Amino acid sequence: MVLLDQTALPDKVTHIVCSDEDRVAEAIRRLEVRGAPAIGAAAAFGLVLAARRLRALEPSEALFRAELLKAKQKLAQTRPTAVNLFWALERMWQLVESAQSPLASLVASLEAEALAIMAEDRALNKAISRQGAKLFAGQRIAVLTHCNAGALATCGQGTALGVIRDAFANGNIAAVYADETRPLLQGARLTAWELQLDGIPITLITDNMAAWVMKEKRVQAVIVGADRIAANGDTANKIGTYGLAVLAKAHGLPFYIAAPSTTFDFTLASGELIPIEERAPEEVRQVRGTVTAPKDVPVFNPAFDVTPAGLITGIITEFGVLQAPYDTAIETLQKQLKTGRKTNEDVDKCNCQSGAGA
Ligand code: MRU
Repeated sequence: MVLLDQTALPDKVTHIVCSDEDRVAEAIRRLEVRGAPAIGAAAAFGLVLAARRLRALEPSEALFRAELLKAKQKLAQTRPTAVNLFWALERMWQLVESAQSPLASLVASLEAEALAIMAEDRALNKAISRQGAKLFAGQRIAVLTHCNAGALATCGQGTALGVIRDAFANGNIAAVYADETRPLLQGARLTAWELQLDGIPITLITDNMAAWVMKEKRVQAVIVGADRIAANGDTANKIGTYGLAVLAKAHGLPFYIAAPSTTFDFTLASGELIPIEERAPEEVRQVRGTVTAPKDVPVFNPAFDVTPAGLITGIITEFGVLQAPYDTAIETLQKQLKTGRKTNEDVDKCNCQSGAGA
């Protein structure tokens, strides 16, 4: 499994070769691969690598399953907030639980499932982008985004950046502002790099400039991704997202989340229950290895925050744009996923608007 090392971007385009689940787990933990959907897909392939490694040892079926479970747990313990990680691992595990076939074909099915997760995420990105771009039809606006919810964070063209890509292609985006996204600079290093490659006009700002950018009417909407969306619409995303939502409200700007159905956690009633990852203090005391604070100063470093549903104008999914009341919209979404129905009529029934101006 070859990963683009996102910690080295934009200075270096280097790749990491992962040949076992330990290296995949390390890559997820270190943010060499990051972004909720990409983490989920990487973990799925991590499980495939584990299955291959274990099968080569010619174990009994019981031992194979016990060891594979350990690999799954190792992958699950890497990052706690993005629900796509657990979603992908559970989906893979269902195959293991239901398998009655010999190990060789189980390993092949696991690989096919990981490839399907990747292909489906590409399709989800496309659908989200199409749905979200309709919001901006007939306009020519500038948008603000945070962190990186683009190709680097997914298996396709991205969620928030996917919407921006499609809306730009339609002629509806004049400019994109990106927060640099301290402490790890996903906006500066990744979003700026990604959008420049696509020739989309990108202007970088530091996080503390967002309020002024809104006040100066330089942006007309905010669009970001998500790591976990609770059943009431409360949304966890990169630290700083909540602040942007508050600012958007204060300036009368629409605030959109773009995320696939795989980022919803239907088991959590509200955002208060979403586990928030806290990361190492060095990430705040340093900027890319350069010390910028007293070396022993106490640090609080939550990697995510939760934006209350009440601050969200719409949640752009592959089905359409969910709107308040989010609890009923999300309940309908869950029912649709269970029955496998994904038609436009279903979208219309779940407080979604898939048309322009939603
Ligand atoms: O810590 P990261 O870089 O993995 O955080 C990523 C984000 O917060 C993204 O906005 C989110 O995962 C959505 S990616 C489509």
